Amino acid sequence: MPSRSLPEDFQWGVATSAYQIEGAAFQGGRGPSIWDTFSHTPGKVVDGHTGDVACDHYHRLEEDLDLLVALGVNAYRFSVAWPRVMPDGRFPLNPKGLDFYDRMLDGLCARGIRSQLTLYHWDLPQSLHEARGWGHRDTLQHFTDYAQVIARRLGDRVDSIATINEPWVVATLGYERGIFAPGLTDRRLAMQVSHHLLMAHGLAVQALRALVPRVKLGIVLNLAPTYAARASAADRAKAQLEDGLLVRWYMDPLFRGCYPQDVLEHLGADAPSVKPEELKLIREPTDFLGVNYYTRNFVHAEDPNLKPPGKLGFTDMGWEVYPQGLTHLLLRLAHDYSPPPFYITENGAAFVDRLEGDSVHDLKRVHYLEQHIAAMNAARDQGVDVRGYFAWSFLDNFEWASGYLKRFGLVHVDFESQRRVLKDSALWYRNFIAAQQPWRPEAAGI
Ligand code: FCB
Repeated sequence: MPSRSLPEDFQWGVATSAYQIEGAAFQGGRGPSIWDTFSHTPGKVVDGHTGDVACDHYHRLEEDLDLLVALGVNAYRFSVAWPRVMPDGRFPLNPKGLDFYDRMLDGLCARGIRSQLTLYHWDLPQSLHEARGWGHRDTLQHFTDYAQVIARRLGDRVDSIATINEPWVVATLGYERGIFAPGLTDRRLAMQVSHHLLMAHGLAVQALRALVPRVKLGIVLNLAPTYAARASAADRAKAQLEDGLLVRWYMDPLFRGCYPQDVLEHLGADAPSVKPEELKLIREPTDFLGVNYYTRNFVHAEDPNLKPPGKLGFTDMGWEVYPQGLTHLLLRLAHDYSPPPFYITENGAAFVDRLEGDSVHDLKRVHYLEQHIAAMNAARDQGVDVRGYFAWSFLDNFEWASGYLKRFGLVHVDFESQRRVLKDSALWYRNFIAAQQPWRPEAAGI
């Protein structure tokens, strides 16, 4: 399976985000975020679960960093909680919050693990939300201030900084469908938010470039190819529109300087108001594009709930296992946009795991990872420049509206005792990564 052209510094990592693992939601001077409010609102998250404690990572930092060593990864993707660093989303700073990330970066450096830092993985400070949040342009300036704070304090030790994680999820699930925080159902606002998120990205990239020119900068998008269920004109048109809303709505402004015309027409009065200089800002050059891939889209004009064939099965999220979609997606993005180098910043699967003593025999997850790494390598072998792969997720964690019921971790977490156990997928990943390293006589004891 090693790809012919795998560079020596290819990043093999795991990914997490702050709200999903840190816990200590009301400790260390952290302010509330929209996810605290949302998860504490009855009926929003399965069984009333919240991120109050999560994996208690805030108190178990060193132990968890040691687990990264046990996994053998050479890179770790995590996010900073904006309200831990700036409890109200603006100055003043919370020094204790910054100290936590400072310790994390020192701990990663000491262990020889590279850091991919994400600034915004959905935990908007609640007080900014109350001042209209991502619907208001002032938030863009606050975000830029926050980005600068992080760069000044941590920029000497990070490998890369991603501005925003999955703006489609933030805008569409948070502001249009209301199933994620802040739980609004206003399409016009959602589309304006998507534009503001992209502007916030551009502003932060400009500010960071000036402060930390050595650090690689980019954005992370959730992307998937969309396939029509039938060859009919109606299904094809639907697939084209879905692709427009998910892929082109973000890729076009980032890499071509415009929003897709067909989607603007579809949105009509709900389209955001956009100025030419804002499009220029969004197109600010970056060093990488992060792609989160889980499954494909499969659309039928009349039946929105039609299931895809699922020849390789479905995950516990009900998502079809469709690794070839990752190859298709990467080839298409490289062809249509000539973007900067890719990282696969998230890829993984939730399955129902059984803890048996000190083992979890999660063979389905092993297969999922194997198949998707092979799919990534198929794109690399056809010339697509991918520089790293991050399995989602390091630990079982708070899976947003699904609470703790969906387990994505390579490491099993007992949320009562906080005991961690390496699943078979973690052991497999460790061996796989070791096999990718060039052969060295000293490692073989020669
Ligand atoms: C992605 C999110 C990540 C995780 C996975 C399953 O959309 O970025 O936090 O929840 O899905």
